[in-house]
Amino acid sequence: MKIGTPLTDHATRVMLLGSGELGKEVAIELQRLGAEVIAVDRYANAPAMQVAHRSHVIPMTDPQVLNGLIMAEAPHIIVPEIEAIATDTLAAIEAAGLARVIPTARATQLTMNREGIRRLAAEELGLPTSPYAFAGSAEELAAGAEAVGFPCFVKPVMSSSGKGQSYVERADQVADAWTYAEASGRVAGGRVIVEGRIAFDYEITLLTLRSLRDGAVRTDFCAPIGHRQQKGDYVESWQPQIMSEAALRAAQDIAGKVTDALGGLGVFGVELFVTGDKVWFSEVSPRPHDTGLVTLATQTMSEFALHARAILGLPVDVSLREPGASAVIYGGVEAEGVVYEGVAEALSVPTADLRLFGKPEAFERRRMGVALARGADTDQARDRATEAASKVRVVKP
Ligand SMILES: Nc1ncnc2c1ncn2[C@@H]1O[C@H](COP(=O)(O)OP(=O)(O)OP(=O)(O)O)[C@@H](O)[C@H]1O
Ligand SMILES: [Mg+2]
Repeated sequence: MKIGTPLTDHATRVMLLGSGELGKEVAIELQRLGAEVIAVDRYANAPAMQVAHRSHVIPMTDPQVLNGLIMAEAPHIIVPEIEAIATDTLAAIEAAGLARVIPTARATQLTMNREGIRRLAAEELGLPTSPYAFAGSAEELAAGAEAVGFPCFVKPVMSSSGKGQSYVERADQVADAWTYAEASGRVAGGRVIVEGRIAFDYEITLLTLRSLRDGAVRTDFCAPIGHRQQKGDYVESWQPQIMSEAALRAAQDIAGKVTDALGGLGVFGVELFVTGDKVWFSEVSPRPHDTGLVTLATQTMSEFALHARAILGLPVDVSLREPGASAVIYGGVEAEGVVYEGVAEALSVPTADLRLFGKPEAFERRRMGVALARGADTDQARDRATEAASKVRVVKP
């Protein structure tokens, strides 16, 4: 593997599609290894743009605009950070041999639609999942909900971060769930998945890494990450999540099969539900995962460093150093150019660290930063991370 000098003809150009907080950390790691980083998103001054060599603001779901930008920038590697991208354009670029898409264009196509990845996992790979049905109308949804049973979750097939999702306990709530999903799905035309609820003991993200070692692809697993979700959005994560040997083996087996099927190089966030020794596949991100922000505090190499190394074809080390936790800092206000108070108090909590993402605009439930902490165990780390996060006040300028 050779790396050129940025901003010369021999640069190793990497284009990030999506420039949020996860992309920002990936950009920093790529910069450290001497790559030329081009950040793209649909709004200006996004977090990764602030640390990239240059940036572009485009509608990434527009195939022609996206194709035009890729042609103009001629990146060697394209790294999607979000799902809402014209993935067919990426497939055409990859097929023409113009750039490598991370992990693969097909993986981005399959995972941007819950139907693609669910059918692959459950029907092709035979992995355990919640019972599910797909629906394209209120009537189909009513039938699907009866089939999977109550309570259940209704989710637009194209959506993330809990958008358009409902928790449905009774048949008379199904119609509202359909209306809500249809109104907030990313693509009009409304298709949803309805999933029976898994009454899990806990849920994890198993960061799974595909990288090159001596010319061959290998798969490594980070220590499992436990997390707590509110309205489909993570509020707190910790690593390691203590699991039985049998559950860990089952989790690694599922994650290995899914990531083998998706292929390519890089980090995958495999989301799993666990009860006792039994493990269910939920979904997978073919990229670093938000709950994996905790690895900035816990691992020898964070998930972002691992992603950067893997996509450049470099060796990796997934070892855990110390138990740790992350706690999300929300906007809490609707304002542009907010100010962060209490930073010194937050950083006075033992072992605490912060990432303030620098997003140009805050919303009530927008993730603006994260507090990180380590500890003798994850309980202590969680207390510290939560305390540090609570000290940061986001205020109008
Ligand atoms: N079938 C289910 N049984 C039990 N809990 C579920 C089920 N589906 C979703 N959940 C809960 O809702 C959370 C969000 O679901 P899911 O990951 O499918 O949504 P998402 O919009 O893709 O969220 P994100 O983008 O943040 O991962 C899960 O982490 C889990 O806590
Ligand atoms: Mg999820």
